[in-house]
Amino acid sequence: MEELVERAARDLINSNYAIALTGAGMSTESGIPDFRGPSGIWTKDPEAERRAYQTYHRFLANPKEYWEEKLSGPSLFGDLTKVEPNPGHHALAELEEMGILKCVITQNIDNLHQRAGTENVLDYHGNAFKLRCVDCNARFDLEEYDLQGLREEGRLPPHCRKCGGVIKGDVVHFREPIPSDIAHQSLEEVWRCDLMLICGTSAVVYPFAELPRVARQRKIEAERKTEAGIYAVERVPAVTIIELNAEPTPLMAEGISDYLIQGKTGEILPGMVEEVKRLRR
Ligand code: APR
Ligand code: ZN
Repeated sequence: MEELVERAARDLINSNYAIALTGAGMSTESGIPDFRGPSGIWTKDPEAERRAYQTYHRFLANPKEYWEEKLSGPSLFGDLTKVEPNPGHHALAELEEMGILKCVITQNIDNLHQRAGTENVLDYHGNAFKLRCVDCNARFDLEEYDLQGLREEGRLPPHCRKCGGVIKGDVVHFREPIPSDIAHQSLEEVWRCDLMLICGTSAVVYPFAELPRVARQRKIEAERKTEAGIYAVERVPAVTIIELNAEPTPLMAEGISDYLIQGKTGEILPGMVEEVKRLRR
């Protein structure tokens, strides 16, 4: 694995615009279970996944009932205020501080990239600590609304202070559209990058899983010297795609990733940062 970590460090140093796409495998070392790994939430309770597919339709049918249920039951992930970023989150924040990593597009709703100090985070599936207006996409911090107070006064669902629209949690449910601003910004990052780290995701949930495939399609023209010593222009992949995962995913099988560094994100990423520092000396 060491030589792959060194290879990734060199690729990062040689990149002009590196981005990271992350999934639940970034946060398992913070104590938050993933979904489809061996002890994942859906692996252990397929019924919970089936119910999760109904949540958005239940919201659309009866936002008041959606809120009553949300405020009375426990969160799927337990108390997210009690978990901490792990060395993997801090490593990505350090790569951003070094000017190498330009953006993190995360499927995780746990806010741990932000708490580790990463500035440019796109919460592709929303953020558990935010509320969002379904009409104007305005976002509010949880504390800006006294949700329990609204519940006791029978005044749920909360309404947007900007346009009066209905407010839901910022978390994007299955079958719910990705908020248009986030979807657009994420595609812009994918079209701009020349290196993509894919950390701890099974890459099976669309449309997020489309992003690595869009990157793989991108080609640029480069000059190559043929055996005969003639310079020819050819079209080559525009993005180096590096996967970090505890186990192989469809991305390797489909030839989307250039290479897989198999192991724990919380160990590989700090090692990568140390290699970048060593090679930059
Ligand atoms: N280090 C590296 N990889 C890990 C680690 C770790 N410490 N822990 C788990 N993994 C890997 C697993 O092998 C798996 O491939 O991370 C991946 C997690 O995959 P999923 O559980 O499917 O999570 P994710 O890809 O983020 O799910 C996408 O599905 O249910 C929806 O909205 C939910 O955002 C989520 C989306
Ligand atoms: Zn609004």
